[in-house]
Amino acid sequence: MKEEVPPSVLVVDDIEANLELMEAVFQREGYTVRIALEADTALEICSRYSVDIAILDVMMPGISGFELCRRLKSQTTKYFFPVILLTALNDKKSRITGLECGADDFISKPFDVLELLTKVRSLLKLKELHEQLDHSENVIFSLVVAMEAADYYTKGHSTRVGALAKEFGSFLGFPEKELGILKKAGILHDIGKIGFSDNILRKPATLTTEEMNIIRRHPVIGENICRPLTSMQSVLPAIRSHHERWDGTGYPDALSGDDIPLIARILGILDSYDAMVSVRPYRDKKTMELVRSIIENEQYAGQWDPELTGFFLQMISSDSFAGVGVG
Ligand SMILES: [Fe+2]
Repeated sequence: MKEEVPPSVLVVDDIEANLELMEAVFQREGYTVRIALEADTALEICSRYSVDIAILDVMMPGISGFELCRRLKSQTTKYFFPVILLTALNDKKSRITGLECGADDFISKPFDVLELLTKVRSLLKLKELHEQLDHSENVIFSLVVAMEAADYYTKGHSTRVGALAKEFGSFLGFPEKELGILKKAGILHDIGKIGFSDNILRKPATLTTEEMNIIRRHPVIGENICRPLTSMQSVLPAIRSHHERWDGTGYPDALSGDDIPLIARILGILDSYDAMVSVRPYRDKKTMELVRSIIENEQYAGQWDPELTGFFLQMISSDSFAGVGVG
């Protein structure tokens, strides 16, 4: 059986008596406690040891608790690292600054032991939930990679579309949060193909009507796979609608124009682009020049949002284009 690892708490305060008091409180709870009298030592501790939560005094000589909070949060953007700030009682201004620095909660000084423990326990629970969520997402991402790895022709397609979606979103000036959603949507858009037979997915010849009807179910299957996860809600429209067409002849809902969610209109272009620049069983990959001219010719033909397609052409023609997807 896996051994239970006690939570690790970092306490930073320039007053030694406060550190000793909190150390005693957390040790009594069975936690691993690490203490620091100032910010540099705290940063050193975080770089050397695994720390689950930090409690920082705001008023410290040198780097303040606010700045330390900001630095710790910027080092831990890929996962949830809870920080509690110790502020003077009813110090509203400090709390606003603390929130701006990313603090998750506050404790007034002199602190109440029960309140401190309750807040720490609740943030640790939240951290655990975040980790479970990350785990569930990672399982789904791994499924996509595994699905594509088995096929020489589509290997890396979803990862490339994810990277390209992020790059295109950035080109369009989307905020950081939206870029994360675009990337996730790109990676997951074809997850609904997961149960399909290789005979269909890798068929070197044109698909029969029956086979085509099976393939056309993948957006809805993909949406159903991801729907139970709260963190996937933002990408469901992309998964369901990435095969809709601007002229209304796509599937599964025959949506047209602006009725197609923006994220799905974006993915529709990128999905086709990556297919064009990749080798497929039925043809070699096309040169960039040819790909650009095909997209130009198709810009108003009814498959894609013409305005977005124009922006996409601008991006792939620019010198700064990273060329994700060209492989
Ligand atoms: Fe698809």
